Amino acid sequence: MSFDSCTHAILNSGICVLPTETVYGLACSALSKAAIEKVFSLKGRPSNNPLIVHVLNHDSANEFCVTNDFSKKLSDFFWPGALTLVLPKRKCIPIEITAGLNTVAIRSPTHPTFRKVLNFVKLPIAAPSANPSNKISPTKYQDVLDAFGEDCPPIIDGGQCEIGIESTVLDLTTQTPSILRLGPITKDEIEAVLKIQIQNKALYTKKHIVSPIKSPGLGSKHYAPDTPLHLHSTFKSMISSKFIGENDVVILPKDKVYNGQFKTNIPILFLSTSNNHEETAKYLYGILREADKLNREKIHISLYSTHNESFNAINDRLTRASTKRI
Ligand code: TXA
Ligand code: MG
Repeated sequence: MSFDSCTHAILNSGICVLPTETVYGLACSALSKAAIEKVFSLKGRPSNNPLIVHVLNHDSANEFCVTNDFSKKLSDFFWPGALTLVLPKRKCIPIEITAGLNTVAIRSPTHPTFRKVLNFVKLPIAAPSANPSNKISPTKYQDVLDAFGEDCPPIIDGGQCEIGIESTVLDLTTQTPSILRLGPITKDEIEAVLKIQIQNKALYTKKHIVSPIKSPGLGSKHYAPDTPLHLHSTFKSMISSKFIGENDVVILPKDKVYNGQFKTNIPILFLSTSNNHEETAKYLYGILREADKLNREKIHISLYSTHNESFNAINDRLTRASTKRI
């Protein structure tokens, strides 16, 4: 039933919600201006923030953008997967998708349901994350329902998203490729495939985020819960912090030993059962939502040590979600 209503929507300039392996996407035909307008309107997304187009493979990508050797190598290795490539767009892609840019962001998702829909509709599918602009991306069916309520378009329930954070966005339109959004696929992994050094324009700093002008949607305020999120530099500094009040909630990485330093009755949530970056990313947005639903005064969480490059994307999301750095 939901498969039929979703494919019907896409084929008729409507919108629907599809699961991907990263986060749920608010999907429509990438060739329908009317549908694209509905996506922007339901998300409350500024029109200067371009959408990602989803396709089955590199050959199909080549119909919508000008592919090159780098995109071929990367797609051979990482597609289907959580790597979005920015390439010069072809005429058939409306500028409403690209927010007036002459480039388009394109990726091939792994999720079998999304691929089944792509196969059925035989259209490129535009899909930003299925959340109101600047809010936390949905990683479960219920998150989407909670976000859009009565206005929610048809959804296909694909369960919990396996990866849990948005794809890496890589700009291939400059001589040296550059990462515009940190994500599940790291700089090292991309460099190993291309056998050259690439740039990282998505670096966050301790005080503020360096926002790449080339990617208008990557502003510093993003992925935010309603409750103010206070981000501590380290787990150690957080557990002894004087800023934690009795009406707050604390999120801890499970691997650390908790000795009960916090004030009694403070709710404590654990992010994962290990210090595994994949598990941490998978449940990151879910735990932020859970903390938000407790309606406490503040949420406290700490940055991960980045000895493992894979935690950079998690720290990036935490930094964007935070209202205050401690
Ligand atoms: O994992 C994902 O990428 C998810 C799933 C649904 O595929 N989608 C997603 O879409 O995160 P969205 O719209 O929330 O984020 C797309 C990001 C935005 O930050 C946007 O600015 C950037 O990609 N982007 C899109 N087109 C671009 C372009 N032509 N040049 C530079 N950045 C672009
Ligand atoms: Mg988004």
